[in-house]
Amino acid sequence: MALTSLLVSLALLGSIANGASTSRRATCPDGKNSAKNLECCALFPVLEDIQTNMFADSGCADAAHTALRVAFHDALGFSTTDASKGTGADGSIFIFGETELQYDMNIGISDAFNMEAPFAARSNISVADFIQFAATISLTKCAGVAQPPFFFGRVDATSPAADNTVPEPFQSSTDILARMADAGLTAADTVALLASHSVAGADNIDPDAAGLPFDSTPSLFDTQFFVESLLNGTFPGPNEGQTSSPIQGELRLQSDFEIAHDPVTACLWQANVNNQQAMAQAFQQAFLKMGILGQNVSKLVDCSDVIPAPPALTAYQTQAFFPPGLDINDVQQSCESATFPNLPTLPGAAETLAQMTADPLTVGPCQSDGTDCVLPPA
Ligand code: HEM
Ligand SMILES: *[C@@H]1O[C@H](CO)[C@@H](O)[C@H](O)[C@H]1NC(C)=O
Ligand SMILES: *[C@@H]1O[C@H](CO)[C@@H](O)[C@H](O)[C@H]1NC(C)=O
Ligand SMILES: *[C@@H]1O[C@H](CO)[C@@H](O)[C@H](O)[C@H]1NC(C)=O
Repeated sequence: MALTSLLVSLALLGSIANGASTSRRATCPDGKNSAKNLECCALFPVLEDIQTNMFADSGCADAAHTALRVAFHDALGFSTTDASKGTGADGSIFIFGETELQYDMNIGISDAFNMEAPFAARSNISVADFIQFAATISLTKCAGVAQPPFFFGRVDATSPAADNTVPEPFQSSTDILARMADAGLTAADTVALLASHSVAGADNIDPDAAGLPFDSTPSLFDTQFFVESLLNGTFPGPNEGQTSSPIQGELRLQSDFEIAHDPVTACLWQANVNNQQAMAQAFQQAFLKMGILGQNVSKLVDCSDVIPAPPALTAYQTQAFFPPGLDINDVQQSCESATFPNLPTLPGAAETLAQMTADPLTVGPCQSDGTDCVLPPA
């Protein structure tokens, strides 16, 4: 598809997602649910299954974080210049799990496979749709997310994605931005998407610890990640793909540090600081774009009305802050055209962040070398 027609389609998706469509809801065959498009009725049994049995009541914690990350790794198996790289948000990461989960770039995605494979297999939707749907529902667990749209009808992959399609944390920002651009995502999209690291942490970078959060509020989709990634790192981060962090127990990815300070992205990055609405809206649009990479948008159906509302942040949670003991003097500013916002410092002594607990569903037969990463029969 030509770029212009993709952009037109995206603009259309955007306007539909923002409520321009006025059609009324019809009752589903189950007699219980309703949706504007009857095709969307197929999503309700899946929604009920994952709400009850996959996310349970765990909130914006490991299950939600795990479901969000795999949607990125599935979608990035795509190139606007080289068809052999993959067909995008196509389920290939699970369908060809034994191949793709061997790739170094997918370290840790076996957790997502173990958690989601049984649900994907027993659902009546494509694996491609399942991965993006579960990620969309995961977002609604995190306070601060802007209502995520969902488009339905993805076609599953018939071959695996290539290796080296997902950026790695030890790559330069220039290389990462180039790979994202080749997949169809701009530098602004990339910064917008990295708001996901506000609800995230690392299990595999530091061999001695797991569940190390990327910001001090890993269960809130707030702007704190953009603040803390700009603070001078004083706690050493000696492992590959890691740099020093400003808070004990926090893990800083080298890639986040580089993108925060790259002249191409520094001002986009800083603009998210204490700018909750702008951050959440930019993420909403970029996540929509990412989740349909490689798919024919004109074949997708708008099922946004199936998605529950995410919780809101309180006014207190919306206000960004400097962690205890730190202030404006600890900011390593790289954006030259805007001053860093004035933020309060949280009172109290410098804290050590708690590690996040792994969700038990992430444990299963699939290994990080791809062994036994095979979808069960439907
Ligand atoms: C652009 C370059 C990116 C790089 C280099 C990168 C790298 C990483 C790395 C290394 C981890 C830790 C993995 C581990 O040790 O277990 C991680 C975690 C995570 N990433 Fe990214 N990421 C990028 C973009 C994204 C995007 C676009 C999304 C989603 C839209 C995303 C969502 C997540 C989430 C949710 C986690 C936490 C997973 C968990 O806690 O279980 N990342 N990322
Ligand atoms: C599965 O989905 C197809 C197409 O959406 C539909 O025709 C069929 O009735 C569904 N089956 C079940 C058991 O929901
Ligand atoms: C996308 O789908 C539309 C509608 O079914 C079709 O006319 C068009 O040829 C498809 N485009 C591609 C690139 O497959
Ligand atoms: C960053 O922290 C280091 C170690 O505490 C210190 O030596 C350095 O002066 C700090 N740099 C800035 C810009 O604050």
